[in-house]
Amino acid sequence: MNILDKFHHWRRRRRWNKQYKSGRWKSLKSDIEADRYLKIKKDLRAFAPENPSILDIGCGDGVLNERLGDYPFSYSLGVDFSSESIKQAQEKNLPNSEFEHCDVLHFVPKRTFDAIVFNESFYYIPDTEKTRVLQFLLDHLSAEGVLIVSIFREGPGCWEYFKENPKLKELDFETIKTSKEMTYWKIGAYRKV
Ligand SMILES: C[S@@+](CC[C@H](N)C(=O)[O-])C[C@H]1O[C@@H](n2cnc3c(N)ncnc32)[C@H](O)[C@@H]1O
Repeated sequence: MNILDKFHHWRRRRRWNKQYKSGRWKSLKSDIEADRYLKIKKDLRAFAPENPSILDIGCGDGVLNERLGDYPFSYSLGVDFSSESIKQAQEKNLPNSEFEHCDVLHFVPKRTFDAIVFNESFYYIPDTEKTRVLQFLLDHLSAEGVLIVSIFREGPGCWEYFKENPKLKELDFETIKTSKEMTYWKIGAYRKV
């Protein structure tokens, strides 16, 4: 990253922290958001091995984890560069789950995972780092594992990293619509080839 990118990245992290402190992201728990979490749960059921280990990149305060509800998983690690969101996630004491304060740009997994989820977080990775970060994380996805990506609206400049990636095969791709105008998410599930 050049110095300007580094500055924007630093400023973005500060903004996320402030917003988690102010409670702005409590909206993620609203009903209108529920279906996109449910779709991720459905993809996990359909494509992840039984009782998977899950890596949730940009996990925020752990809403996906809460929304998994009765879905059985052996372990989940949520990673986020907002210390405030991680603190809030840790306070929930969710079963089989850990949360780590770390920038995905510097995150080094200590194990492989059966599912890796970019739930509304991939577009925040600086463009110059997207390929490297994605490849590095894919090296920590088990052969039978699934990569799940959720992106708000069209996600310009994002989907090509998955759809045009010769190392990935698309298993599913769906648009999750809501009753609110211009509020929809696209969610893709991928396996390594
Ligand atoms: C829109 S929120 C989504 C939160 C959560 N995935 C959800 O959908 O409930 C985006 C999250 O990505 C995190 N994030 C953005 N860039 C990141 C980075 N470089 N490393 C780790 N987390 C990052 C933010 O702190 C924020 O919590």
